[in-house]
Amino acid sequence: MAFLKQLSLQINYVFKSLFFLQYIPHAFFYSLKRDRLHRQYLTDSSVNPVTQPGKLLQAKTIDRGAYFYFEQAELEISFLTPDLVRVNWSTDLLPIPYAVVDRNWETVETTLSEMGNDWAIASDALSVTVGVDGSLKFCDRAGQILRTELPPQRQGEKWIHQSQLRSEERIYGLGERASSLNLRAAKDELQKPKIYQMWNRDPGGRYNPGTDPIYICIPVYLGLHDEGSYLIFYENSFRAELTFADMAIANFAGGSLRYYITIGEPSQLSDRYTQLTGRAPLPPRWALGYHQSRWGYRTEANVRQEVKAFQTYNLPLSAVHLDIDCQVEHRAFTIDPKRFPKIDSFTQELAETGVRLIAINNPGIKFSRRSNLFLEGQVLNGFCTYPTGELAIASVWAGPMAFPDFTNPKVRAWWSRQYAYLLDVGIAGFWHDMNEPAAFVSWGDPSLPQVAQHCLEGRGGDHREAHNVYGLLEAQAAYESIRQYRPQQRPFIVSRSGWAGLQRYAWTWTGDTISTWEALRQTVATVVGLGISGISYSGPDIGGFQGNPSAELYLRWFQMATFLMFCRTHSSTSVAPRTPWTYGEPYLSIVRSFLQLRYRLMPYFYTLAWETTQKGYPPVRPLFWGNPSDRSLWDVEDAFYLGDALLVCPIVEEGKRSRTLYLPKGDWYNFWNDSTIKGGKTIELDSPLEQIPLLVKAGSILPMEDSKQLILHLYPPMKKAEEREIDSSLCAFAPNTALRLRLMRDQNSYTLYTDAGDGYGESRCDRFYFIQHEDSLELVWEQQGNYGFPYQSVQLHVHGVSLQQAWVDDRETALQGQQLQCHLFKTVRFRCD
Ligand code: NOJ
Repeated sequence: MAFLKQLSLQINYVFKSLFFLQYIPHAFFYSLKRDRLHRQYLTDSSVNPVTQPGKLLQAKTIDRGAYFYFEQAELEISFLTPDLVRVNWSTDLLPIPYAVVDRNWETVETTLSEMGNDWAIASDALSVTVGVDGSLKFCDRAGQILRTELPPQRQGEKWIHQSQLRSEERIYGLGERASSLNLRAAKDELQKPKIYQMWNRDPGGRYNPGTDPIYICIPVYLGLHDEGSYLIFYENSFRAELTFADMAIANFAGGSLRYYITIGEPSQLSDRYTQLTGRAPLPPRWALGYHQSRWGYRTEANVRQEVKAFQTYNLPLSAVHLDIDCQVEHRAFTIDPKRFPKIDSFTQELAETGVRLIAINNPGIKFSRRSNLFLEGQVLNGFCTYPTGELAIASVWAGPMAFPDFTNPKVRAWWSRQYAYLLDVGIAGFWHDMNEPAAFVSWGDPSLPQVAQHCLEGRGGDHREAHNVYGLLEAQAAYESIRQYRPQQRPFIVSRSGWAGLQRYAWTWTGDTISTWEALRQTVATVVGLGISGISYSGPDIGGFQGNPSAELYLRWFQMATFLMFCRTHSSTSVAPRTPWTYGEPYLSIVRSFLQLRYRLMPYFYTLAWETTQKGYPPVRPLFWGNPSDRSLWDVEDAFYLGDALLVCPIVEEGKRSRTLYLPKGDWYNFWNDSTIKGGKTIELDSPLEQIPLLVKAGSILPMEDSKQLILHLYPPMKKAEEREIDSSLCAFAPNTALRLRLMRDQNSYTLYTDAGDGYGESRCDRFYFIQHEDSLELVWEQQGNYGFPYQSVQLHVHGVSLQQAWVDDRETALQGQQLQCHLFKTVRFRCD
């Protein structure tokens, strides 16, 4: 039986591989042409002399900062907030503000002072010392140096920008990377510091840990060292290379040297960076559920059968994704009416069972006079061209394609209109693939030639500048389309590629990972790195895209992805179909229990989604997030926080039934058995197949739901006797509840966000506070907002202390063990042992 299954997989693989043969001739000639164009039109900057700013001659104050005149350059430093500066070394080519959002920054008071040959421009939070040679030093309020930059170098169109790294300094970010979380730790094959490429790239159906670059490159990174942390974002979309050895070296092929620096704790950096580049809007609540996908759902019947099986197996499901199989000859904006004959009623039928349909779309337009979209695009003059004016044509799934130039606002508007009819038939969201843009090649860069021409909002330019923003602008067009054509519902878009600011429009997934344990481990660092780079929503193809994971690998992957914002199984056309029941028992039951847990945790997930709209915090966070000064946490890349309350420890090795973890300082509860653990040391955690270690931070309130009931899990702080006395004296000192609340507010509080789950109506925030007394625990509830409380009842479940008696708003109420059943209240008091 196993032999037959293996054989059929092999045959399927060979058959699918034959299918790819058809693209070879065009890919071959395209690759030749791309190289020829590069030889003909690309100029080599390295033949130019290297110049530096020269000597600083003069400085003057300007609104929000200062202007500095050097012998051969000018520098403008502007404070957007007291802790966020924009540094602009003069160039002719200013960036088009695709990444940054237009906002009115409040006025910032700054002081310019002369210090010998140097000058300093400072706010009350950050000072920048400008050296006589153009070097820059960024210091915090206490005068600690957080970053030291060398004078920038210019060579032809190129920029070389270097800053010193402290020996202990760690670097995180750069968008989506299949690298170590601390980017500085990775080495290339020759054991030299890895060079990170800024050039979105389709690795072609599979990638391994170590592959670079992949789909989303963002020139933003967070530096963390003993004196503090900072974040730098280069507003330059040109091709670049970054390395982090003794120096951080950024080498841009063109564009301007304009960058932003902010200082502070990691949370503050995320806040500021997303103030600058925008925050992810609230998604529809269903999108936080489970998504099932496969390159292989060819017909309506296939999808119906899959959805039915989810019901049969009692597995919750929120969305099914349709890959290119649903299209007519893989063409953009099509769904084959022969194979999906009643898509309109089908989407409704699915919606009635709570399942949404997501349709894929690739940016290329079939190069054919029989394609209306192609003709329209041509009339608009809306496709990318070669420098000769000829259309840039490269093969993707539908064969030779023309590429819409999303840097042209007219093209974005035209593109936006194409989604309308799919929205009309009930497609709930869109999946943007191949938008690096990817092209099939026989060798070299699988994209458009660097010399392909773009509109760039009318000012003109080439693909070197437009390439990295291609997917971002496609997502913008789709987002605006959904806002326009379906204004009552929130957009849901997943984009494979993007750049800084993608979070304003789309989620992403980590692409074509292979099905190995190493790739599973890699996912954690990749998703956390994306979060540091502003992209709050991401997740992997559960089980890996390319390959057939073992039952154990699929299960462990699933258990990890349960706690990521985007939870989707997806796989390649050339591998065996993969669903939660593929591997039978006990895997199916375990997957079911994790899925059910995810759905019970929905209020927690949804509140994290809201938090990211307010602060830009990534819901999935590195372990150093709350303790950046603890060096032991800097390199942890196989565990993550989901919000502040949960610490998730995936199992990323075959056969492992326990694992170690350096646990951040503080007190923790084991989610599975309520045992308590002290942090600040390395611990061993059990992880039978049925579980992965999951820890809850003491002091947390973890909201869950079960049909119409809200369940608040209370994990009281484990305070020492003397701390409890302080709390009690605080209460005695401030017997007035309002004052007492204010004093306690920031300590152990949780805000639960609720609304209708979609649309733009009313919302509410329920704030809960713990107050701990000598022998009792008080929980206070404050309500805000006009959206009605959506639950019929509330259950309080107290962990870690043994409950004796309870009072709801001063009325004694019966306990059921550690639980209390109630409804709206102001205060609940528990007497505990
Ligand atoms: C590449 C994508 O990364 C993958 O998810 C998808 O299944 C294939 N393209 C086919 O559309």
